[in-house]
Amino acid sequence: MNKIHAAITAVNGYVPDYILTNDELSRMVDTNDEWITSRTGIKERRILKGAGLGVSDMAAQAVKGLLDKRGIAADEIDLIIFCTVTPDMPFPASANIVADKVGAKNAWGYDLQAACSGFIFGLSTGSQFIETGRYKKVIVVGADKMSSIVDYEDRTTCVIFGDGCGAVLLEPNRDGVGIIDFVLKSDGSGASFLHQKAGGSVNPASHDTVDAKEHFIYQEGKSVFKFAVTNMADVSAEVMERNGLSSADVTWLVPHQANKRIIDATASRMGLNEDKVMVNIERYGNTTAATIPLCLWEWENQLKQGDNIILAAFGGGFTWGAVYLKWAYDR
Ligand code: UT7
Repeated sequence: MNKIHAAITAVNGYVPDYILTNDELSRMVDTNDEWITSRTGIKERRILKGAGLGVSDMAAQAVKGLLDKRGIAADEIDLIIFCTVTPDMPFPASANIVADKVGAKNAWGYDLQAACSGFIFGLSTGSQFIETGRYKKVIVVGADKMSSIVDYEDRTTCVIFGDGCGAVLLEPNRDGVGIIDFVLKSDGSGASFLHQKAGGSVNPASHDTVDAKEHFIYQEGKSVFKFAVTNMADVSAEVMERNGLSSADVTWLVPHQANKRIIDATASRMGLNEDKVMVNIERYGNTTAATIPLCLWEWENQLKQGDNIILAAFGGGFTWGAVYLKWAYDR
């Protein structure tokens, strides 16, 4: 019998309605459209407005649409892996909350935290439950409400991030399509360059931590940029080499959308023209765990069964990696 692969059989996304433009940001901090566009490629990003709305509200929309698209009921879902750095609350897991919101009453779930690499870590992890034959329907969510941890007085970070959610359904496939391979890495010494200082067990929330703005993202952009450029390109090249793929064999690169210059460097290292690279950073900015599934969602109509797709990411941790998959269906 042919090997079971975990295939993506549906993809859906959700982005909030509110559009935060570069022009609006330039009225909030000392920045301008020219700087943001030339340094990052970002023109606008979506922001989830409204009291009491969290990452699970975006995910509930995305997951309900995913189930509708595939024509399955919520109670058929076995497992939900929720990749995020901005859960509704430290505990319980947002996976449980979204399962409740969509009525996935037979699913168990957990949150996975690998920052911008969250979705590819979650996809790789979820694929194992399918490949072993244990489960038939696993949902991997990549979602972040970055606006909840962004300091809108810090021009070095507030221009970069946005809110959004993407979700995929994984099901078993024996026809050779699905997730074929992955290379995943992490290096905790990178924590000093990109983190949220307070709110954890080392530095619990207090008046002082709030006053010191330690619940916001801290990033040393230049250092992170250097690691991201090298490492995202390295793992993408490694997964190609391991699977005997030339640049001509790769149909699409789906890169994490952190900075257009990092995306271009990765594509160039892989020998890919820009028409093979999914880029929507100009409209959504960096939505952390959501960037890759949001690209798959937006490009879904162009994807064909058998397409060779490389997903690649780099993010806080540091974490990074690349996934090689063969697309499973024509829309
Ligand atoms: O997704 C998770 C992983 N994260 C990443 O991959 C992000 C990686 N890093 C980056 O994408 C880039 O480093 C940034 C976009 C964050 C920054 O771009 P940069 O080209 O590395 O700029 P820089 O930090 O070297 O700053 C250059 C100058 C500085 O001014 P001085 O010191 O040269 O006078 C900054 O103060 O640009 C200034 N600057 C800004 N100016 C206008 C920083 N932010 C802004 C801004 N508007 N928003």
